[in-house]
Amino acid sequence: MTLEEILTRAPVIPVLVIDDVAHAVPLGRALVAGGLTVLEVTFRTPAAAASIEAMIAEVEGAVVGAGTVLDAAMRQAAADLGCAFAVSPGLIEGERPQGPVPLLPGVATATELMAGLAAGFEIFKLFPANVAGGPGALKAFQSPFPQARFCPTGGVGAANAAEYLALPNVICVGGSWVAPPDAVRAGDWDRITALARDAAALAKS
Ligand code: 3PG
Repeated sequence: MTLEEILTRAPVIPVLVIDDVAHAVPLGRALVAGGLTVLEVTFRTPAAAASIEAMIAEVEGAVVGAGTVLDAAMRQAAADLGCAFAVSPGLIEGERPQGPVPLLPGVATATELMAGLAAGFEIFKLFPANVAGGPGALKAFQSPFPQARFCPTGGVGAANAAEYLALPNVICVGGSWVAPPDAVRAGDWDRITALARDAAALAKS
């Protein structure tokens, strides 16, 4: 699957920080049951790699990617685990769209966007979206950079996701709000499915 095919599958990509590998499969199933089928598991915890493997093996219908990919070696590690995509908070020097796994690089400024476009990327994570200018920044990027499209992430939630999704240069948004840590800890998968269902209903306009 191309990055575009992945990012157009659902309006919201859950950004997951998984502390306990035992949570990975029920969490993934709860999100997929609510209609969020593209899952980003961040490389921030010791449980991340095993969680990715478990989700790929056992969560039917999920497209699993790795987040917090900070260098080329981590991109390769994502590919080796079988991830469908990798997400970085920033630009990774020397990395191109072609590589072991599709890469969604992060940008926060026009200068970073220009560097990313020069490297051949056309789809970016705006990060951290709420402090990098929010919807106003994306509107301002539209005219000078019509080829660039975005997945804003960082400070996006139920209250502002629709505003981002209404923008023509936004493909989808990312966020952690659909998997609150207390619900994960408590195994409250029904609550997570309900949050996912609300998020999945935020159709891209
Ligand atoms: C992150 O890096 O944790 C993501 O951007 C998610 O941000 P959020 O917790 O503000 O949704």
